[in-house]
Amino acid sequence: MRRLFLSLIASGLLCLCANAQPQLDNHGDWARIVANGKPMLMIGGELGNSSASTLDDVKRIFPHLKKLGLNTVLAPVTWELIEPREGVYDFTSVDNIITEARKNDLKVVVLWFGAWKNSMSCYAPEWFKRDTKRFPRVHDRNGIPMEEASSLSAAVLEADKKIFCKLMQHIRDVDSEHQTVIMIQVENEIGMIKEPRDYSTDATKMYNSQVPKTLTDYLIRNSKTLNNPRLQIKGDKGSWADMFGNDMYAEEIFQAWTYAVYVEQVAKAGKAIYNLPMYVNVALNSRNRKPGEYPSAGPLAHLIDIWHCGAPSIAVLGLDLYDKGFPDWTAKYHLRNNPLFIPEIRLEDQDGMRALYAFGHHDAMGFCPFSIEDYPFYANASQSDWNNIDLSQDDQLNAFSSAVSVLSPLVASYRLLRQVEPIILKHQGSDDMDAVILDNENREAEIITPDGITLRIRHSYSLGWEPGAKSDVWPEAACIIIRQGKEDYLAIGSGVVITYSKPNGKQIGLAKCEQVEFGSDGGMHILRHLSGDQTHQGRHVRIPVGDYQIQHFRLYEY
Ligand code: DGJ
Repeated sequence: MRRLFLSLIASGLLCLCANAQPQLDNHGDWARIVANGKPMLMIGGELGNSSASTLDDVKRIFPHLKKLGLNTVLAPVTWELIEPREGVYDFTSVDNIITEARKNDLKVVVLWFGAWKNSMSCYAPEWFKRDTKRFPRVHDRNGIPMEEASSLSAAVLEADKKIFCKLMQHIRDVDSEHQTVIMIQVENEIGMIKEPRDYSTDATKMYNSQVPKTLTDYLIRNSKTLNNPRLQIKGDKGSWADMFGNDMYAEEIFQAWTYAVYVEQVAKAGKAIYNLPMYVNVALNSRNRKPGEYPSAGPLAHLIDIWHCGAPSIAVLGLDLYDKGFPDWTAKYHLRNNPLFIPEIRLEDQDGMRALYAFGHHDAMGFCPFSIEDYPFYANASQSDWNNIDLSQDDQLNAFSSAVSVLSPLVASYRLLRQVEPIILKHQGSDDMDAVILDNENREAEIITPDGITLRIRHSYSLGWEPGAKSDVWPEAACIIIRQGKEDYLAIGSGVVITYSKPNGKQIGLAKCEQVEFGSDGGMHILRHLSGDQTHQGRHVRIPVGDYQIQHFRLYEY
């Protein structure tokens, strides 16, 4: 509760100073963007890499994003388009994004595709690519150059930094009043592919030299709280191999330092022009791969301390999640000094449930499925289905209309989140909010509320009543619980059945339950009073699979 009080004061102060630009209201393990003086969650989606490269595409896509229920779009801005010839700038692509975002009530996170995009340097302009002498590439262990710009080259850094600063200046000039652009991603999924580190002569020389004092001091100062025990060093002098062990993981640590220091210089210079919150995103090291098999040296959980030390201008290490194990990965990137932000996640229907869990359990700042423009608004009919029906045939039209009446799961879930966004923001970081996610293997979970009540939350198929309950695979289900007052709760989600008890033997009953919605004025409107069969005569609160609801319920002791 104390955390809640402090956070309300902190956000109040942020709001009072009608900011000159969007800011990050950062509490260490949770954070939110404050834009136009108001805190917000990024209920978002990231565009596919080439989807914002022409005005036609942006005009076609952005209204769809608004309809899906997004309040934020993450859109690439590429070096090759904004500096096609050295020193010649063209910000048309940036302006297209900002203008169309405003028309569709979207905030924008700009993804800077500069020197690196997924390890490679494919978005650097042609004049940069061709001048390998001036802009060197990294080398593999056989001395062969790879298509990845060198993080040690002053020329690469200067060219990247210069255009990034121009970009920040342009965004400041066209947008500081509106505050449509709320955050910047610096580069994209940095990390060396194929090798754990650069084996160029310069890099090897540096690898064999002393680890910089800034880093050793940091590691010694923070030795008790380091995320990776390998980073607990004994002495304060020695080469990278001396300090971290003579293997590929030491090489990865070295490479991470070079990336972090590079990114810091880009981000710091950009922030000096227009001080927007900045983050980097990570390609994960899953499936037992080794550094170089996965993009080595990115802002990975085991390298987070290196990144924090090397790139203090970067506020958040964002999680790109394309692997199995959503609860495990999110826990790894929600740290005491890293708020959870998911700038990318594989676009799937289950994302609807995962978004609820991320915001409710991890106090996430944002959740953004990748290639969001491909997501259908309706669950069971595509645009081509629509194009294929003969509108003059009533039977075809009727069949289509009944098919399309089902919202896609992510859309349904985002509708809930948009309604309760102010309530989540009020409870971020407090014990009064939590969430669970359930699946085929994990079919129940518990939340103990500050009232001392245990809420047992089971998958609603556990009851055996719903049509899909007999199937072998149960869809993901989730629910956010927000305590609004003594024994007074909101349940926001789908596919859950909630029962209640107290450990001391006191009997807990359901005093009142109603399905509600929240209007844009923040007011709660009752859609239905729920009792009888809908609460199993008071025994539980239930939101069936396929329904996406907010239920308000009060409990009592008898
Ligand atoms: C992660 C990258 O960050 C995106 O730009 C995109 O390439 C996706 N992978 C594709 O799955």
